[in-house]
Amino acid sequence: MTTTKPSGLAGIVAGETAICTVGHEGNSLNYRGYSVSDLAEHGTFEETAYLLIYGKLPTKTELKQYQDQLKALRGLPQNLKAMLEQIPASAHPMDVLRTGCSALGTLETEGSEHSQINIANRLMACFASMLFYWYHFSKSGRRIETQTEDASIASHFLHLLHGSVPEPIFASALDASLVLYAEHEFNASTFTARVVASTLSDFYSAITAAIGALRGPLHGGANEAAMELIESFHSADQAESGLLDLLAKKQLIMGFGHRVYKTSDPRSQVIKNWSRKLSEKNKNMSLFEISERIESIMWREKKLFPNLDFYSASAYHHLNIPTNMFTPIFVIARTSGWAAHIIEQRANNKLIRPGADYTGPAPRDWLPLDKR
Ligand code: ACO
Repeated sequence: MTTTKPSGLAGIVAGETAICTVGHEGNSLNYRGYSVSDLAEHGTFEETAYLLIYGKLPTKTELKQYQDQLKALRGLPQNLKAMLEQIPASAHPMDVLRTGCSALGTLETEGSEHSQINIANRLMACFASMLFYWYHFSKSGRRIETQTEDASIASHFLHLLHGSVPEPIFASALDASLVLYAEHEFNASTFTARVVASTLSDFYSAITAAIGALRGPLHGGANEAAMELIESFHSADQAESGLLDLLAKKQLIMGFGHRVYKTSDPRSQVIKNWSRKLSEKNKNMSLFEISERIESIMWREKKLFPNLDFYSASAYHHLNIPTNMFTPIFVIARTSGWAAHIIEQRANNKLIRPGADYTGPAPRDWLPLDKR
């Protein structure tokens, strides 16, 4: 029997998971039963990553051990540094992480010495190291030390980028955003990771493929695209007229809309609060005011609401993070969710291989070259 499938598998339940619910009670998002707002407000990214990967919140002692373990995993092998040095400064940072992840898989191959959980922790701990080793070397030939003493992944990221330990408010803002980006059920990149894992491929292949899926502007790449839109306007009034033009031309406005949420994204208010706080701290409300105007026009004209990517753009900008580094932050955070899904997929594996409705020609006879 054939049925017409909704395009893009919208609304199709493609499997079971105990990791996350999206939009179950209205517009909620829960990681293993805990609301994302509680996790972002009261906890740290390391607690969330532990929850996703190990299945429970860590005790105080477990958290301390986990933080120390992650801290010890920030260094890069010499061979990986040599490979990163070959990547030109013009490369996109997402391509650097995709390549770095795959390259590490040739040096610390999955097996008895490197278990799936160890690799998950290793990648989360050293993605920022890869990124900024390449960044500083390709820009200025500087070979930076990536093993910092920062307490968190967020602080390590900002430290390597700017060359100094960040103020606590900046590290906390980035930390909250990592919690918000950590996990989101069967989104495109996570589903990609599960498909790769379902072939019994290795952990690095699944994460490398997921990075590729995340890179596109309909998924993770939207935070970069949102920033480009916001900073193309100089005032809220100009944003209003510019946006109406774009809508009249039926253009997609990046950072708005969602496949699952229909009236709001529960992560958006949390990151919007951070965006406001950082704008106030930096005494520059311009991007925030432009963003708020865009938000109100999108609701008035299209009943579309900002997703997590929209206010992440201005928040990251106020952390002085280059725009093309926005989606790599998403990679660092989402590695925790991808890892949880790969582990879950492997625990009860079945090859993911859906069918398709055929729309091509009926069976026909082979034609020799001189008859075509
Ligand atoms: N700007 C303008 N119109 C939009 C937008 C948008 N951002 N999003 C949806 N629409 C319109 C569509 O054009 C479509 O209109 P139509 O019915 O007149 O053709 C209608 O709303 C339904 O949209 P779909 O694209 O069918 O919705 P879908 O569920 O397939 O897409 C998606 C969801 C991809 C997120 C979409 O809203 C979009 O492209 N948004 C912009 C990209 C973006 O922000 N991505 C980030 C996703 S969240 C994340 O990764 C953290």
